[in-house]
Amino acid sequence: MGGKKVCVVGSGNWGSAIAKIAGSNAARLSTFENQVNMWVLEEEVGGRRLTDIINTEHENVKYLPGHKLPPNVVAEPDLLKACAGADILLFVVPHQFIGQVCDQLKGHMKKDAVGVSLIKGVDEGPDGLRLISDIIHEKLGIEMSVLMGANIANEVAGEKFCETTIGCKNIQHGQTLKELMQTPNFRVTVVQDADTVEICGALKNVVAVGAGFCDGLGYGDNTKAAVIRLGLMEMIAFAKLFCKGPVASSTFLESCGVADLITTCYGGRNRKVAEAFARTGKTIEQLEKEILNGQKLQGPPTSAELHRILKLKNMVHKFPLFTAVYQICYEGKPVTDVIKCLQNHPEHM
Ligand SMILES: NC(=O)c1ccc[n+]([C@@H]2O[C@H](COP(=O)([O-])OP(=O)(O)OC[C@H]3O[C@@H](n4cnc5c(N)ncnc54)[C@H](O)[C@@H]3O)[C@@H](O)[C@H]2O)c1
Repeated sequence: MGGKKVCVVGSGNWGSAIAKIAGSNAARLSTFENQVNMWVLEEEVGGRRLTDIINTEHENVKYLPGHKLPPNVVAEPDLLKACAGADILLFVVPHQFIGQVCDQLKGHMKKDAVGVSLIKGVDEGPDGLRLISDIIHEKLGIEMSVLMGANIANEVAGEKFCETTIGCKNIQHGQTLKELMQTPNFRVTVVQDADTVEICGALKNVVAVGAGFCDGLGYGDNTKAAVIRLGLMEMIAFAKLFCKGPVASSTFLESCGVADLITTCYGGRNRKVAEAFARTGKTIEQLEKEILNGQKLQGPPTSAELHRILKLKNMVHKFPLFTAVYQICYEGKPVTDVIKCLQNHPEHM
């Protein structure tokens, strides 16, 4: 019996970093087939095809420059070929693209394949919140787990110590996924509260935008700590209102919860672009293009999705930080509204 075939669906900054880990574990463990495919949306970089560069130089020079991928990670531009026969699929495209990726994959998956979403974001459905893992499950019919944590891709690729959380409903699958992804410097905890793990990953990006606004306005670390604390309170309240299953408070103490929130509010791209937004007055779209070189922002679109869900449920007033971030990004409200929202937060009334 051969090992399980692994495919990484996506090859951005995080997709490439996780391919590095999964590739090197697959190469040394008999549980997995040696070759790990990575689906790459083809593009030209310096007049060459990105897949050719990855397969010859073993480096994603556009999205994860400076880090070598193991040679058993094979870049494939054809999505169906990349995923053919896969037993484990790691989904790691920006959340706005997952619907169209799944539509292409529909009907081409092994029935007992297992998926893991590393995608941070949410979508809205007719009844409110839709998790990305639910979208994948509904479209492809495969069982889904999630992996979320304080995992800035460049640091993970640089093998700097960090922790992460796998949320899975089937604990046996959770152990196999841990085997695929754990390294001495990437420690995996498996919990069964998968929906909460996923919600944390999406919501923290919105809080990080608020933290970036404070940085851009010249406020200090005390203010940012208040954003983080109030943001965490809103994350917990949102999860309790909108998760289908039980929400364990302990999940917020895992890497996917408070740790990811802190790292994103200090180091992530959402914070960085929000700071520039407050300093320059340029639009989010403009700054995304100028600063991120093809990488995608998750915080502002997630704030818009949350806002629509909260409006639908008549709950906008209970989430002032999420709402302020949305209104500043998309409705032309002044950035200083983020401070007003902290001063008048229901927590202080
Ligand atoms: N980068 C990080 O540090 C990090 C850490 C943890 C989680 N995440 C999450 O991982 C997910 C993927 O982020 P990333 O950092 O790997 O990507 P990225 O933002 O670095 O790169 C963008 C990727 O999107 C692809 N893309 C562009 N247009 C597309 C389309 N139409 N269809 C499909 N793909 C398209 C590009 O080819 C590129 O691979 C996001 O949900 C993000 O929140 C990122």
